[in-house]
Amino acid sequence: MSRLAKPLERADEAIAVERFAVAYRTEFGLVPAVSNVSFALKRSERLAVVGESGSGKTTLAMAIAGLLPHETAQVDYGVARVAGRPVDMSASRSVIPVRHEGVSMIFQDAMTSLDPVATIAHQFRSVLGKRGVRRSEIRAESIEWIEKVGIPNPERVLKLHPYELSGGMRQRVMIALAMCSKPAVLIADEPTSALDIVVSRRIMDLVLSLAVELGTAVIVITHDIDLARKYTDRMLVLYNGEVQDLCSTDSVTSAERSPYTRALLDCVPRLQDYDKEFLPTLARSIERAAS
Ligand SMILES: Nc1ncnc2c1ncn2[C@@H]1O[C@H](COP(=O)(O)OP(=O)(O)O)[C@@H](O)[C@H]1O
Ligand SMILES: [Mg+2]
Repeated sequence: MSRLAKPLERADEAIAVERFAVAYRTEFGLVPAVSNVSFALKRSERLAVVGESGSGKTTLAMAIAGLLPHETAQVDYGVARVAGRPVDMSASRSVIPVRHEGVSMIFQDAMTSLDPVATIAHQFRSVLGKRGVRRSEIRAESIEWIEKVGIPNPERVLKLHPYELSGGMRQRVMIALAMCSKPAVLIADEPTSALDIVVSRRIMDLVLSLAVELGTAVIVITHDIDLARKYTDRMLVLYNGEVQDLCSTDSVTSAERSPYTRALLDCVPRLQDYDKEFLPTLARSIERAAS
């Protein structure tokens, strides 16, 4: 078999993980936060990971992206491939976590992902440099990416530090930096939770149009069920670190879904609920769905 055979066979696969589990190291020993998660995504496919706060969404994302250091967490899995190639996803032993190749991540707060002491030009240089872009071409490509995310006057922006940008511009720069590595997978952790609905949908449209252009698979972590239904092909529902459902987004309302998933959908407030004194809560809905 030729050395190339394997990646080519899986040319369409962006990511595959099987029996993926994460446990935090605490003073009480290992505490599981995510167990037995398996899924695979093709290029350009979109998965929503939904679940209430504390269900393990961020833990899953950070572990897949390679951002959980070994001293914090233990990562176990049966299979882990990105762009068809095996990736070592066991937690990194280096002091500064090293992002897994082919996986990019964006956060709700752009300040967490941008280096506060480096200029925007410097941050592009390090990502594009790693991708192998020639030094002579880095500036032009940085400008192109800044334009792509709709920021005017890119030459000026390159000279600035993150704190000199408005919140909205910072978020766009973060998206450009995440996408310019041409990742196989982009993980967006609650990317729009802090934004109003109009800006939030505009940012999602931007992220997804870049993802379509590059063939990047997108994992959107959100507790916004409506956003998940509008923008994704499949949904993975987590509760207590365990998968409750993995289904096509269209079929999430089907009666076959787990009681937890039905309860989660049930407590999304609707416009017609405006005159209700009490909105449904997750606990009540679970009780009702299970009975
Ligand atoms: N560094 C950590 N050490 C120990 N436990 C943690 C750590 N980070 C998160 N957890 C716990 O892991 C569980 C999942 O958290 P998280 O992944 O942040 O959930 P979500 O993103 O769905 O709100 C929670 O019980 C949380 O308290
Ligand atoms: Mg979270």
